[in-house]
Amino acid sequence: MSPGSNLVIEPGATIGILGSGQLGRMLAMAARRLGYGVAVYSPEPNSPAGQLADQTTVAAYDDTTALEAFAQSVDVVTFEFENVNAEAVAVLSRFVAVRPGGAVLHTTQHRVREKTFLASIGVPTTPWRSVKSLDELNDALQTLGTPAVLKTAGFGYDGKGQRRIDEVAEAEVAFAALGSDDLILEAHVDFVRELSVVAARGQDGRFVAYPIVENRHRNHVLDLTLAPAPLSADRVTLARALARRILDALDVVGVLAVELFEGRDGRLLVNELAPRPHNSGHFTLDACDVDQFELQLRAVCGLPLLEPRQRCPAVMANLLGEDLLGSPDYAAVLASRDVRLHLYGKAVARPGRKMGHLTALGLTIEDALSKALTARDAIRRA
Ligand SMILES: Nc1ncnc2c1ncn2[C@@H]1O[C@H](COP(=O)(O)OP(=O)(O)OP(=O)(O)O)[C@@H](O)[C@H]1O
Ligand SMILES: [Mg+2]
Repeated sequence: MSPGSNLVIEPGATIGILGSGQLGRMLAMAARRLGYGVAVYSPEPNSPAGQLADQTTVAAYDDTTALEAFAQSVDVVTFEFENVNAEAVAVLSRFVAVRPGGAVLHTTQHRVREKTFLASIGVPTTPWRSVKSLDELNDALQTLGTPAVLKTAGFGYDGKGQRRIDEVAEAEVAFAALGSDDLILEAHVDFVRELSVVAARGQDGRFVAYPIVENRHRNHVLDLTLAPAPLSADRVTLARALARRILDALDVVGVLAVELFEGRDGRLLVNELAPRPHNSGHFTLDACDVDQFELQLRAVCGLPLLEPRQRCPAVMANLLGEDLLGSPDYAAVLASRDVRLHLYGKAVARPGRKMGHLTALGLTIEDALSKALTARDAIRRA
């Protein structure tokens, strides 16, 4: 069975998920609702996804024996965590279809490879340079100027592994702080807002996408998603077209999120890609007819991909560890008809850790935003 074969995986089969966080948990819920079995693989015991799985494998991502056994126990493998090495994907692919395939992961898990790929298909990004030494960082700062953002090329998430550089003199400290010789320097983008497109592509090349959303961050972590983003029709068309070009060129089977900056000049620049459902797509659980996890399941199982429809404006607010200190007042949220609460089953509420989210539905985006903020305040005040 090759990963590219046109394979329909019917309900009753078992979905293998690599990674065990909240994205895997919500995928597991979608899979169970449609009658699939769920097997989760990750190094974490008692994980958000593991709590909902039929089988869990607790093993390292490079444990070949455990990967082989896992691959033989499932009918397809997909991801909720993409920083898995190419070797692991190769081992799995010997036994079972892996969607999206290893090439998609390889490209998207490394910022230099990702931006090289985007340039090769004519998708605009902020100017950047690969940086492997302090000398190269100083050269890159001469070329790109300041402010700039220095990032580790691989394994970043929630703004970890990045430093903003405002003056050339800060180069040495920033380089030492990241402690890696595989870095990227990006020109800082003075954006009007951040956007994302969550899209999916099937084995037959069919492309579908959710409405474009606006993302607001707090301390480099996603805070709020406004769906849909207040955008002109031509920006919507352009964002969708960029996403389509990316998914087609990567030959993705599954869901992929494209993070964008909207520049002051109206240009759209791609920030990064995530080859899986995305935090900015959580609103789809409550506001769309087919949510992003069911869409991932449909794509990887070769089931029909419907163009998802959003029922009403929605705002998603993340609940981080610091929002749930003391005894959070969940009842205050549950008493509101237009706000839906999602908790991820994580025992320890560390600051910055994504513990859950809530989605408010509204008549307008302003209405949804005010309901989301009121509900989150109510939880915190307890
Ligand atoms: N070149 C840039 N110019 C301006 N802001 C930036 C730039 N790069 C990153 N940022 C800001 O930092 C945030 C996180 O950066 P990025 O998406 O690259 O990292 P990440 O660690 O993968 O984050 P996440 O997992 O939340 O997507 C961006 O959403 C944006 O707000
Ligand atoms: Mg990002």
